[in-house]
Amino acid sequence: MLKIKNIAIFASGSGSNAENIIKYYKNNKVGTVKIVLCNVANAYVLTRASNLGIPSMSFSKVDFYKSNKIIDKLLSEEIDLIVLAGFLWLVPKNIIKSYENKIINIHPALLPNYGGKGMYGDNVHKAVIADGKKESGITIHYVNEEYDDGNIIFQAKCEISDEDTPATLAQKVHALEYEYFPKVIESVIMRL
Ligand code: GRF
Repeated sequence: MLKIKNIAIFASGSGSNAENIIKYYKNNKVGTVKIVLCNVANAYVLTRASNLGIPSMSFSKVDFYKSNKIIDKLLSEEIDLIVLAGFLWLVPKNIIKSYENKIINIHPALLPNYGGKGMYGDNVHKAVIADGKKESGITIHYVNEEYDDGNIIFQAKCEISDEDTPATLAQKVHALEYEYFPKVIESVIMRL
């Protein structure tokens, strides 16, 4: 019997993906969500974690970039895989090094297009629609020291109709995220 892998989720906002992943990994044989880490003290993801009985921790920029607080927490919780789900800060070198190929992110567009600094949330969907694109989607990728730049693990597409707005495109993208992100995490865990 393989040891169940411990997942840490990093999030900055609402956390609907975090909630979906937590629910998927309750009573799952390969992984479990051990903790939610958040850089915004009043983010709704913290309420979701607490409602679901998952411990959480919020942290400051100084904690993240100028101390060992977060890496120490990850190691003491025996975290095997880090999942970024709507997390807006670049991950510092010390964490990338300790978790090489063990940090994954979801991006709400088809990378390598519409990624990079500032390309998050509605900014992404607005840019895709402004360019008149006929499709968008999700990209799940490994995380390195650049924004949205690591090797791609998985992509899924959705169509964009003439009636779509950034808000309706966001809904289509979220639906893909909910469907695929937990399963792709599982496939990454199997390869750990
Ligand atoms: C998702 O669209 C994700 O792809 C992006 O940020 C959004 C987070 O949404 N990185 P939520 O906080 O999970 O609801």
